[in-house]
Amino acid sequence: MQKLIKIAVDGHSSCGKSTLARDLSKYFNFLYIDTGAMYRAVTLFSIRIGVFKDNLENNDLLIQNLSKINIEFKQTSNNKTEIFLNGENVENEIRNLEVSSKVSKIATLSELRALMVGLQRKMSENKSVVMDGRDIGTVVFPDADIKIFLTASLEIRAKRRFDELKEKTKDLDYNAILKNISERDFIDQNREISPLKKAEDAILIDNSNLNPKQQLDLAVKIIKKKINES
Ligand code: DC
Repeated sequence: MQKLIKIAVDGHSSCGKSTLARDLSKYFNFLYIDTGAMYRAVTLFSIRIGVFKDNLENNDLLIQNLSKINIEFKQTSNNKTEIFLNGENVENEIRNLEVSSKVSKIATLSELRALMVGLQRKMSENKSVVMDGRDIGTVVFPDADIKIFLTASLEIRAKRRFDELKEKTKDLDYNAILKNISERDFIDQNREISPLKKAEDAILIDNSNLNPKQQLDLAVKIIKKKINES
């Protein structure tokens, strides 16, 4: 039987982690799990049940309702893997600015993180997987075969997000996006539980000047070398 491989891709918001992780999963034919999408789906659920009603953040309400959350990744007709919240495809809705502005706060909750980490490990059982997020190499799979820490300059990340959203969003504000990304970086890096940080044994890739094809080629080279050495 072939050895199962776990590839962890961590890094800052909007730096292309999902693009790299998805491309790697296709290249190696491994399962892809977007853990950011999982925290986003929980944030959407929180908005819907009124956690943020009256500008409050009623985290207790979310914690009481955690057992009502069912998250799955399913293959859709366009041959993409998309996220389903309690049976509903929420792949697009979880990318809006409202969810983006609330997700980092929701992702600080320890009860939620424990639940998500358990689910992420379960989804990967007996499978080779590429998983992207913030704590994959440090917490979810500290023994991952390959750990990549991806980053790019803040301005480049904001510009990429702007370009990605401008087709679908009217009156899109570049500065609002830049502010959102910068705030998420701060919260992600400074939270008490599982903060975003580069694992000691992770390989750093700054993709500020790389296109998706170039970053894939570089990562594939690194991964093949690592697999051959082990
Ligand atoms: O990767 P993303 O931008 O879709 O992630 C959304 C948010 O979820 C991000 O701001 C931090 C949080 N997150 C996390 O705390 N841990 C993960 N493993 C993945 C995402």
